[in-house]
Amino acid sequence: MTTQPTNAETLTITDNRTGQSYEVPISDGTIRATDLRQIKTDDADFGLMTYDPAYMNTASCRSAITFLDGDAGVLQYRGYPIEQLAEKSTFLEVAYLLLNGELPNSGQLGTWVDEITNHTFVHENVRTFMEGFRYDAHPMGMLLSAIGALGTYYPNAVEIEDPAVRHMQIIRLIAKMPTLGAWAFRHSLGQPFVYPDNGLSYTENFLAMMFQIGKKYEADPRLVKALDILFILHADHEQNCSTSAVRSVGSSQVDPYSSVAAGVAALYGPLHGGANEAVLRMLRRIGTVENIPAFMEGVKAGNERLMGFGHRVYKNYDPRATIIKKACDDVFAVTGVNPLLSIAVELEKIALNDEYFIKRKLYPNVDFYSGLIYEALGIPAEMFTVMFAIGRAPGWVAQWNEMIQDKEQKISRPRQVYTGPAARDYVAIGSR
Ligand code: CMC
Repeated sequence: MTTQPTNAETLTITDNRTGQSYEVPISDGTIRATDLRQIKTDDADFGLMTYDPAYMNTASCRSAITFLDGDAGVLQYRGYPIEQLAEKSTFLEVAYLLLNGELPNSGQLGTWVDEITNHTFVHENVRTFMEGFRYDAHPMGMLLSAIGALGTYYPNAVEIEDPAVRHMQIIRLIAKMPTLGAWAFRHSLGQPFVYPDNGLSYTENFLAMMFQIGKKYEADPRLVKALDILFILHADHEQNCSTSAVRSVGSSQVDPYSSVAAGVAALYGPLHGGANEAVLRMLRRIGTVENIPAFMEGVKAGNERLMGFGHRVYKNYDPRATIIKKACDDVFAVTGVNPLLSIAVELEKIALNDEYFIKRKLYPNVDFYSGLIYEALGIPAEMFTVMFAIGRAPGWVAQWNEMIQDKEQKISRPRQVYTGPAARDYVAIGSR
């Protein structure tokens, strides 16, 4: 059946169970799922719901922070293309942009950088807390716990309606993340924790806390720049798994440390932040370029995945992967080429010309090359998700801050389609 367009911004739905028609408004290319609840077979009917496991086609919020066009391979923070920010900006400036919506002028940037820099230290008890982990604890598990623990030091953090209180926690979360991340790494090495040096930039300071031992650590500025770019590329990515975890947990009005800890937990998983660690393991396992064809046959047979390829949203080359690939050259010019690079480049070449990957629109994502850079910087695979978390912190807190002020948001509470048994009576144990 075809009808003439009326140009009305509405959707007419006919329920074939009852023959009734309903008209629901369309706004920003969406209909409100709650508008479907009026569609009932009778008064006792709960009303129609949408079924959307994994939120494949559900917008859970309105957000003005990050724009992503997965088909075109476009990523913008507050309208600025990621390519321009990676080339011209700094991580802390980008963090300001994400949070405030505009790039800072020099006075605003100076104040912002000072605020972050003055909050890099953590309470001494946090040190004891981190020392309590087993010698081989995964640094991401340590970071996850330490972020949750931070909330106990700032009891007024629950006053989330107060913008000044929110601002303070946002500063602390961004500022302390590198300290906690670096300490988690030092713990795994059995090396003494290095305190922040507030004379250094954010990224230099992180590298110093990671690598300083015995004498002052001086990072090569080209490596600092490459790491700063990696942080920028990871700073936000709209409603991904960890960000929606932050929003979902934050919607209960818990303190932001607990919300961000939820984000760290989500990021820990191999399908999200853990993918670059998996990429390196995969590259090592492949070992030589000659082994690639056999490996690819296994991927196409469905035995395993080509890690660092594919994305829920990007059905084109992930723009972050292009920037990272270029940063690889800059880093390797300082550190020497990572031998795994040749395997990665060959894998990419084969995949981009293979029908299996073309048909499914599988392209390299942000994780395909980032692990190679981290490894060249001397950062071990277990730390990769921690690096991601440090980069993503501004995005998490910006999204959390936006959600708290959004009058439309309520406690996150999805519905379900119940598939269990109908009501039945309890049976005594002897009669089962
Ligand atoms: N290697 C081989 N086949 C793949 C891959 C891959 N990496 N990714 C997807 N496919 C296939 C999949 O088997 C399926 O094929 P078929 O239609 O024949 O069943 C089809 O492509 C669609 O896959 P999907 O699992 O339905 O896609 P998804 O949107 O649910 O998954 C993904 C997205 C990122 C989890 C997935 O592509 C994947 O597991 N990639 C490898 C892990 C990875 O690199 N993750 C990092 C994501 S980027 C970092 C971030 O933003 O968090």
